Parts: sequence; structure tokens; C-alpha cells
Amino acid sequence: MAIILYGTDTGTPVFLLNTKNTSYAFCINKSGIAEHLYYGKLINSPADFETEGRGEGMAYHSGYDITPEEISSFGCQRYKETSMKLTFGDGVRDLRLAYCGCRTEDDTLYVDLKDMHYSLTVTLVYKVYEEYDIIGRSRIVRNGDDLPVTVESLYSSEFALRGTGYRYINSNGTWAGEFRMYENRLNGGKAIIESTRNAAAHVSTPAFAVYQNATETAGDVWYGVIEYAGSFKICLEQTPYGWMNILAGMSDTDFEWKLGKGEQLVSPTVYTGYSDNGFDAMSNVLARFSRGVIMPEPYRKKPLDVLYNSWEATAFDVSCEEQMKLAEIAADIGVELFVMDDGWFGRRNNDHAGLGDWYVSREKFPDGLTPLIEKVNSLGMRFGLWFEPEMVNPDSDLYRAHPDWTYHYRNRPLLLGRNQAVLDLTRADVREYIVEAVSEILSENNISYIKWDMNYPFSECASELVPPEEFKSLHFRHAEGFTAIAEELKRRFPQVEFEACASGGGRIDYRTMGIFDEFWTSDNTNGYDRLSIQEGYSLFYPIKYMRAWATDSGHFPEEFNFHAAMCGSLGIGVNLNRCDEERLARMRSHIQHYKDIRTLVQFGTLHRLASLKTDGYQAVQYENGEESAAFVFGGVRERGFGMLPVRVKMRGLDPDAEYAVLRIGSWQDVFDRETEHIDRETVISKGVRKSGAYLMNYGTEVRFHYDMYSCIIRAVKI
Ligand code: GLA
Repeated sequence: MAIILYGTDTGTPVFLLNTKNTSYAFCINKSGIAEHLYYGKLINSPADFETEGRGEGMAYHSGYDITPEEISSFGCQRYKETSMKLTFGDGVRDLRLAYCGCRTEDDTLYVDLKDMHYSLTVTLVYKVYEEYDIIGRSRIVRNGDDLPVTVESLYSSEFALRGTGYRYINSNGTWAGEFRMYENRLNGGKAIIESTRNAAAHVSTPAFAVYQNATETAGDVWYGVIEYAGSFKICLEQTPYGWMNILAGMSDTDFEWKLGKGEQLVSPTVYTGYSDNGFDAMSNVLARFSRGVIMPEPYRKKPLDVLYNSWEATAFDVSCEEQMKLAEIAADIGVELFVMDDGWFGRRNNDHAGLGDWYVSREKFPDGLTPLIEKVNSLGMRFGLWFEPEMVNPDSDLYRAHPDWTYHYRNRPLLLGRNQAVLDLTRADVREYIVEAVSEILSENNISYIKWDMNYPFSECASELVPPEEFKSLHFRHAEGFTAIAEELKRRFPQVEFEACASGGGRIDYRTMGIFDEFWTSDNTNGYDRLSIQEGYSLFYPIKYMRAWATDSGHFPEEFNFHAAMCGSLGIGVNLNRCDEERLARMRSHIQHYKDIRTLVQFGTLHRLASLKTDGYQAVQYENGEESAAFVFGGVRERGFGMLPVRVKMRGLDPDAEYAVLRIGSWQDVFDRETEHIDRETVISKGVRKSGAYLMNYGTEVRFHYDMYSCIIRAVKI
């Protein structure tokens, strides 16, 4: 039973939410407060949670502040960060909620709370994903009074962990420097992790992982991800009472939402989990949950194709002839999806003009896109195209016709980023224009993939149609507007694969994951930098969605860049027109090898075996019980002298089984393949025999023969 209710007839009920391996418990205590009790390993007996109830308070410390709450609201003797803040129509600014009942529907629990005077209710919603060890939670606020209520903040989730000195990880990223992970320790005060950029953004990750002594394979970790494609906020507050509060949801930095009579506000969902086996288990639970629940069909179960993207080769300088030449070579080396990036529409010859004008440039494509698409299809590849639907350049027909369609303040010059402004997605006419413009291109051409970019987060929260007193609702409305147009386009074109990009990895979140089929992880395609970007990404997000291109960036051995990109969903960004036959042959063989293992990489269990940060080299393994592939990257700059060999210890193998093990790379002591498949049979026939126990406990020796050395260790159970 996933949801266990105890004592619901007593006024002090206990709610126990059990998944396969975890329990989450809260109650209504004797003081009437919704008190958070427990999140951890499985406990099956709800009676054990009968609480004495806190909430008595003591001098100077109120009962609310000294109780770990399940939902707290501003005012009413609370001085801590609270789950919500609102103002009633008559100016009263504290909310006094009392429990008034609960119900369950399938795997979802609804707990209703009501204000002691006003007709305002708050419903706590918990959906239990028993198989996945995940709980999804959100809140619904309803106003039943004539006077409007203004909601000023609303987190989706609040719970507490007993103890002090918890550590947490997040990222402090930039464009081309995504997922630069940091760790902090909170001994007192608050830590805020936030984006106010109308998207998850490079600067921080809409997720938390909190722990005391966890490693990759051991220790308790409490974690959560926010399913929201807008400005978000996470607050960790160490109380002086011996626990830490964790709140997560939408950002309230610039937020207000008016509720008229009968209206409701539903918060985004936050998915939380608990691992008693460190970060490895956390990442794999989230990846399984993403594949099983979040990702849309039909690509959810299909491995992604190897794509070629022309951006790093041609930038804006696209032409039919040049793209055809690239396509011929791309097909020849094994690419399956050919993508033309920016520059094909309007008067788009650089980033100063054209955004918003979604018609094919007749200068560059006199006969439209059809000749190029037919050529690409005749070469056996699918065709994909770049869009940036939410934006407009002032130098565009769209802006000249509709200068009022962007967010902007009166009496202020329009602010631009990358020479562009953001279209006002709160307007139905703007949303309709975008949907129709993109639909037209998609229905007139055989396009089966779009790269949906977004390169400027707005800060002017003003719209021509929204009354000024509601400008603080724009962040939320914009996020809703973005998801509405993306969902409508996906509904109209379910077979088209959507990639989410925002100057690289600026829009990576679980709401976007639910509509799109992959993320563009970073514009930084330097294989070395990618290793840490990808490591940070992999903590909270599934590998299948991690698009990674091999390019010319970084002047590293080509194999290194390829191996780094083969750790995700492989793409190629090299200027193929400049490659000689020898180089093309090498690429062909990498692509072939990737196809041999891509199902394992995209769907397998991930193990971060060694990290540049702590071990001086990186090793990442993908396994599915039967087969395993570990990518090892070493000889990197930090290591300096010596290049001592390391022993790479795999995980997840059967200790008693025998494995065939083959190291693949370009040095004499490893298997240096030509273009043939390296399938199971190849590994079995050419590999050495080792036990699973040996491979996991003693490991495979790898020598870093030269700077930026990499190899792949394949293991197949016999
Ligand atoms: C952004 C993206 C790039 C590329 C360019 C095109 O910077 O992140 O990958 O598509 O736009 O202008």
C-alpha cells in the first residue's frame, strides 16, 4: 500500500507515504499543526508515528517556528521562511490553516486545510510513485470569498531533516560553463538557490541534494527536482532547533497572483526522493523515473539518432549547396539526422536581424527547403531545423508590424540581449502567431526534428495587455505561455523530435523534459570541459537527454572529443568539408562503435566511477546487467607528471559471473578497431576473461599513454 492513513477519525491523523524503499510521514499534531515527521528508509507501521505533538512554544520561540512543518504560512508567529504568503482582500496578512479532511485517489493523497475565518483552502497533493521511490507534491490554493486574495509566494514542497551541518550541492554555471557544481555546508542561516531568468538557466539547477556524509555509493541523500520551466527557488534554512527546513518551488522574487472568488492557483510539482546509497542511486532513480513517467512518447523508448548539426561548421552562412555537401559527407560517415542550425530564415545573416520572421530565405534557398530536404532524405537521413520561437529582433518584419508584442516598460528604451527582445507570451495573439508560423514550416516540409533555442531571459516584466497592477504575475504567465506553445506544437506534430536549447544548457528542467525529447547540454563542445559539465548534468538528469557533439573544439585528440560525446546522445559538429578521407574514416568508426553501444549508454544504469575533481581522471560506466561500457579519460592537465596507471573498478556486475573484457582505443595495448562493429561477439571473441568480482574489486588497469588519453572498456557477461 503506497498511502497509509492512520487515525483519520481522531483529528490528529498520521499520513504515511510508502514507496518500495522509502517512507515519508507527516501528521496533524495535537496543536493542529501539519507537522513533518520523517523521510527515510521504509517503515510500515503508521501507529509508531503517533505524535505527542509539538507546538507549545517557549518564551521568544513560537510553537510554529519550533515545529518542522509540512506547510507553513507567513505571519501567525512565524519568523522563518514559509511555504506561502498571501494578503486577504481586507488587508489581513496571516493565514491560519486548520485540517479539514483528506481523501485518496489511486496513488494520490489530498489533504485539505482551511483558514479559520476566510473561505480560503489549501490542498496538499502527494502522488506516490511506489515503483520509482519518488513522491510528487504540489499545492492548490482556492479562494471562496468575494474579496480577492493576493498570493505572494507559494512553494510546492516543504519538509525538514533533523540535525545540523547538512551539505548541499548545486551548480554555479554560465553560458558554455554549465553545471559547474559546488558543495556548501549549512551550519546556520539560509541558503537560497534561485533563477529569476524565466527558465532554469545556466546559473543554478532547479534541484537539490542534501546530505551529511554521502559519497557516490554510500550515505543518505535527500533530493528533489522542480517540474517548472520558469523562475524557481529553493530555500534551505538551518533552524536553531536542530533541524533544517527544505522548501522548493517557484521563485517569489517578483511574484503575485490574484485569486478572485472561486479561482485557484496550482503550484508546479516537485518530485522528491531519498537514497541510502549515495548519489549513484539518486541519479539512477531519477533517470528511471524520467524514462518511465516524464519523457513524452514516441521517443521515450527509442534510442536517439546520431545527428549532425551545421552550426560550428557554417554558423549563419548557410546555403543550399553547402548544406548538401555537408549532408553527403555526414551520411557517408553514418549520421542519421541532419540538422541545419540558425541562418535559414528571414534576413538572418548574423544575430542582428530576422528572429520572428519564420519564412525561408529565398536568397539562400531560392526553391525553398525542399531540394535540401529531399537530398538529405535520399541519403537516408532525417532532416531537422533550428528555431528560436519566443524571440524577435527589432530588425525584423514581425517587430516592425508589432512593436507592442514584446515585454517592455513605458518610458524606457527596450532592453535587448544578443540584439533581440522577448515576445510577450502572455498574449493569445502572440502565442497563436508563433504556433502558426512554426506549424506552417513543419507542415510544408518533411522536418522530423527541431532545435528550439532561447537566448535571452527578459527582465522587463511589463506587457501591453496585462494591467500594471498584475505585472508581478508575468514570470508565471510567461512560463505557462512557453509550455502552452511547446505543448500545442508537440500535439500537432507528435512525430517531430524536439530539442530544448537556451544558449546551450539554459533550459534543462523536468517540465521541459515532459514536452521535449532531449536537451542541448552546452555550447561548449570542448571534450575536456564537457567531462565536468556532463558529470554535473548527470546528477539530476537522464543521459538519454544529454546531447553531446564531437567537434573541433579544444585541439585534443579526436578520439577524446568523440569519447566524451559518446557518453551521451551523440552528435557531430565538425566542419566535414574540411576533413580528409583518413579523418572521415576515423569518425565513421567512432560513430559505428557508438551505434553498437548507444542503447546501453542511453538506457543503461550510470555509474560515475572516478571524477576529475577528486581522482584526477574521469571514468563513467553504463551497464544493463548483461553488458557494460566504461569510458576512461586521463592524462589530463591537472595530472602533470608521471601518468601513473589507474585501476578502474566497475559497478553493478554479477560478482560470480565471467565476463569478456575488451579495451578499445588507439594505443598498442588496446583493441584499435577499423570500421567493423564492436558487438557482443567481437568483445567475446577478442576479450580477456575476468570475473565480475575481479572487475569490481580489483579493477582494470588503464595507462594514460599521452596527454588527453581516453579509452572504452567493454565487458560482456558470458
Ligand atoms: C545559440 C545556441 C547555439 C546555436 C546558436 C545559433 O547560441 O546555443 O547552439 O544554435 O544559438 O544562433
